Amino acid sequence: MDIFHIEGPVQLSGSVNINGSKNASLPIMAATILAPGKSTLRAVPYLSDISVCGKLLSQLGCKLTRGQNDELSIDSTVIDNPVGEYEIVRRMRAGICILGPLLARCGRAEVSMPGGCAIGDRPVDIHIRGLRELGAQIHLKNGYIIAEAPNGLKGKDIFLGGPFGSTVLGTANVLMAATLAKGQTIIESAACEPEIADLANCLNKMGAKITGIGSPRLIIKGVKQLQPVEFEVIPDRIEAGTFMIAAAITSSELRLENCRLNDMMAVVDRLRNIGVTVDAENHGCVVTRKCSIKTADITTQPYPGFPTDLQAQFMALLALAEGNSVIIEKIFPDRFMHVAELNRMAANLRKEGPAVIVAGVKKLIAAPVMASDLRASAALVLAGLAAEGTTIVSRVYHIDRGYEKIEERLNPLGAKITRQSI
Ligand code: EPU
Repeated sequence: MDIFHIEGPVQLSGSVNINGSKNASLPIMAATILAPGKSTLRAVPYLSDISVCGKLLSQLGCKLTRGQNDELSIDSTVIDNPVGEYEIVRRMRAGICILGPLLARCGRAEVSMPGGCAIGDRPVDIHIRGLRELGAQIHLKNGYIIAEAPNGLKGKDIFLGGPFGSTVLGTANVLMAATLAKGQTIIESAACEPEIADLANCLNKMGAKITGIGSPRLIIKGVKQLQPVEFEVIPDRIEAGTFMIAAAITSSELRLENCRLNDMMAVVDRLRNIGVTVDAENHGCVVTRKCSIKTADITTQPYPGFPTDLQAQFMALLALAEGNSVIIEKIFPDRFMHVAELNRMAANLRKEGPAVIVAGVKKLIAAPVMASDLRASAALVLAGLAAEGTTIVSRVYHIDRGYEKIEERLNPLGAKITRQSI
């Protein structure tokens, strides 16, 4: 179990290249199940979640090889064990998105129910509902979802909304299954996240017929088969947002290369509103903070709203604002494990149901803190960059799930982070 020692406060400068998106890569890796043969994906980041997903695909029968430049080849010619084991899916909930493609390809799938999660309840009822609508017979046995469609899936008009709006991986599952279903499927209330658009673009490159990409109404005309693909995944908008906040929280200027501002308008809008400059430049942007941080009211929402995956990091930034801010979490109402840890660093945060009142303080003070989930741990690292003294973040394996060697990315910019294995 590694820990980080983060010396602060620091100022950052220089440029950073944004990696390929974790949350686009994971469903696209699952999509290769649909197309027997060897697919080659580019810009797949080196993250522990990607390795875990690779293990899951290997257990199904796929052969994976890493090439140069973040390339990942997946040979899905043979899939002889359509089972997603508990040991893997419990470690990475995105494992659930092999369910739809396995069912479409093999007519049968057994995938473990994911189980508990640090960011709150994360049911998969909508995934199951959507696949049932396509004609799958699904039951639960010994903690596993057993799905069968011996005579194939049939296209249908499906409303896929849930209590919190659309579902990202639920949309991915039903979309992938529908590509090989007989006839036309309409997914209404589909997730519009750029990662789902990227998946749909990849599926179309494989030979699928999907229109409405990026909108809440996806129309899928089923095809008989899909072909292997060469595809480059989009840059990670959450990693980009985290580096933007790193520049803002340290009163610095950073250049981000390979980042799509169009995928991040809600975040850029909030940053500009609180006094951070974000200027588009070539295929990226320059982020600068020169004045004090103003307050903001933020509500997380499905895309194109403010992403829940940047809520914790933004809270660390607003902890230093001049006045009171309010952050309301509308996707995962319990995603606030970072609140108590940031308060250990002299932030003044008060949780009120699914909201946090952030009373700005003049400075953060280093403390030993514990990472609880991926984005919460990113918030602690950001706070550590700005805090006075040496912040010690334990359980950094959480951050390794979604940020590739973050200390090696931040240190050349001026951060002082050391990783210690204990
Ligand atoms: N929901 C249901 N039933 C379902 C599915 C979802 O009620 O069957 C609810 C969830 O409990 C939640 C809301 O719907 O309240 C939205 O959840 P969603 O299904 O969209 O989340 P997800 O697909 O499981 C992905 C990302 C998360 C990100 C969310 C929201 C991946 C691998 N994961 O999860 O990313 O927070 O969408 O944008 O794409 C992260 O990267 O740190 C992360 C947690």
